[in-house]
Amino acid sequence: MTFLSKPREGQGPGEVAVTCDRVTKSFGKGSALVTAVRGVSVEFNTGQLVMLVGPSGCGKTTLLSVISGVLDADEGDAALFGVPWKSLSRDKKARRRGELVGFVFQQFNLLAPLTAAENVAVPLLLRGMAFSEAVERSVEALKQVGLGERATALPRQLSGGMQQRVAIARAIVSKPRLLVCDEPTANLDAKTGQSAMELIHQASRTTDDQGRDRCVIVVTHDNRVFHYADRIEQMEDGRLKAAPEDFVLQEARAHH
Ligand SMILES: Nc1ncnc2c1ncn2[C@@H]1O[C@H](COP(=O)(O)OP(=O)(O)OP(=O)(O)O)[C@@H](O)[C@H]1O
Ligand SMILES: [Mg+2]
Repeated sequence: MTFLSKPREGQGPGEVAVTCDRVTKSFGKGSALVTAVRGVSVEFNTGQLVMLVGPSGCGKTTLLSVISGVLDADEGDAALFGVPWKSLSRDKKARRRGELVGFVFQQFNLLAPLTAAENVAVPLLLRGMAFSEAVERSVEALKQVGLGERATALPRQLSGGMQQRVAIARAIVSKPRLLVCDEPTANLDAKTGQSAMELIHQASRTTDDQGRDRCVIVVTHDNRVFHYADRIEQMEDGRLKAAPEDFVLQEARAHH
């Protein structure tokens, strides 16, 4: 299996962050077999916000899960910065995921008894950082999403939009090189959805401690946020459609 290490022409700036090489993933058996992703090959670069769009059930979440090392592909593989997930043991895979990938979901998934800062600190604590330093870094991340004043609030004391901003802070606090967001604005109204996307877009323009760019992938149905994309990939029945993104992007920008 070969993984390209250099960006191809016409893919915009950055280095190759994600490589999918003929990724196929099915669920179930026999007559209940569902093939969610069918032989997807694609590369995504750093410094880019890629949107993955398509109808419900077309395989977006499954593809995102394979890319981020949450699910193993049945056939083919995904690689992150040139390292194929299947080449790693279970422990190494979990560690690499913790170091390299930040996640934002439709549900904010905050822990109810923990303050905003403590929620943001969870990924740092899991990586063994001392509590006081983790909370300090978390307050910084909360400032970045405009919630510096609410660091000690509990999730139930925050609006949905604020809770999603806490979740975004939690996803970026460890400075991941890949940020994956699955329907991040689906539970938000238009205005809070825009401000959440604004932050996610900002993440695609921000580097880590060593000045390295990150790649951001956003799955969305929300055409109000399409204009934040540098690149749009349309998925249908487990496959990516060939090069439709220019048209979709132009439409999105024209209407904004
Ligand atoms: N854990 C699972 N077990 C069984 N089938 C699954 C599982 N996860 C996904 N599927 C099936 O795989 C197909 C693709 O699902 P997936 O969740 O990737 O779609 P999606 O594009 O993210 O849809 P949505 O927009 O509704 O979130 C669907 O038919 C789904 O029912
Ligand atoms: Mg989904």
